[in-house]
Amino acid sequence: MKELSIFEATVFTSPNPLTLICTEKEDGTTNIAPICFVSYLSFEPAMIGFATGKKSHTGERVRATGKAVITVPSENLAEIVMSCGSCSGSDTSKVEKFDIKLNELENNTIKIPQDTKLAFVVDLQQAIEVGDHYFHICNIEKIYGDNDKTSLYAWNGFGKVAPAIEKM
Ligand SMILES: Cc1cc2nc3c(=O)[nH]c(=O)nc-3n(C[C@H](O)[C@H](O)[C@H](O)COP(=O)(O)O)c2cc1C
Repeated sequence: MKELSIFEATVFTSPNPLTLICTEKEDGTTNIAPICFVSYLSFEPAMIGFATGKKSHTGERVRATGKAVITVPSENLAEIVMSCGSCSGSDTSKVEKFDIKLNELENNTIKIPQDTKLAFVVDLQQAIEVGDHYFHICNIEKIYGDNDKTSLYAWNGFGKVAPAIEKM
């Protein structure tokens, strides 16, 4: 074995789980960003956590509103994932710029992309500073899924997104 940097390690753990985290901007519209630093944390109660870089608008809006919808994109959203990772919601309306088609969720002002495979409606319980990121610990309020869609994963670390094919 050879010694690796953390960036090289993310290539070794590929495919990495991939989400599009949807949050509410100050003007009430939805911001969307790809986030791979996501993990289930607890079954009972159902909890999930994710980390965002300190400059991320997603993290800022979750901490300001206490709410987010963590979604897993399906394969039709590959291009939108990379576009949403290329700029920040702090100065860009990504939904408008990339013409992202959204669906509404019941009793929720945050919208999610059409072609979503899985969606967790979450409430923020706690945010902790972790090195150059903030880690957000969330309660899962609702989960919606579509069995007919194929999930996207991050490959080559976080450089490429594609479905994962099971080796038989
Ligand atoms: C595949 C992929 C995975 C990413 N994972 C993360 C992540 O886990 N945490 C993070 O802070 N940024 C991650 N990023 C980078 C953010 O998506 C990017 O900085 C984005 O511009 C943030 O947008 P926001 O400022 O609207 O939150 C990832 C980008 C890509 C393409």
